[in-house]
Amino acid sequence: MKPRIYISNDHTGVEMKQAIVKYLTSLDYQVTDLGNVDGKSCSYASKGLELGEKIAGDKDCLGVALCGTGIGISIAANKVKGVRAGLVSELETAQLIREHNDCNVIAMGARMIAVDKALKLVDAFLKSEFAHGRHEERVKTINEYHG
Ligand code: RB5
Repeated sequence: MKPRIYISNDHTGVEMKQAIVKYLTSLDYQVTDLGNVDGKSCSYASKGLELGEKIAGDKDCLGVALCGTGIGISIAANKVKGVRAGLVSELETAQLIREHNDCNVIAMGARMIAVDKALKLVDAFLKSEFAHGRHEERVKTINEYHG
């Protein structure tokens, strides 16, 4: 069964978001778009927190987060307990954030990478799975931290 996908973006990521939604829908993923749609300036911080809340509340889902660099929205999403968002720009990293870090959100910089690259990164993320083993304890350490 395919995971449900929540996607969000600030004003910089509208075009990339639309391409990802179209791509994932064509692959029969159920996609919920929480992102900015009109390109008017908005806060990556509130978009990231809102996305994080959705991810934390649904254990059978994964998320896609987009802002100009991908950094701000991933910092915000990672403030929500249970969220592990990883910022990627290479295919191997997109795979490893699932395999090693059990990331449930992939973050990308809409001003940093091309749309066709973003589709490939999302694809690599979704095709990968947590490898468990030695990674289990490390992810558990993060999950159990209460700062
Ligand atoms: C918006 O100008 C920009 O600051 C935002 O998209 C993002 O790059 C923040 O990390």
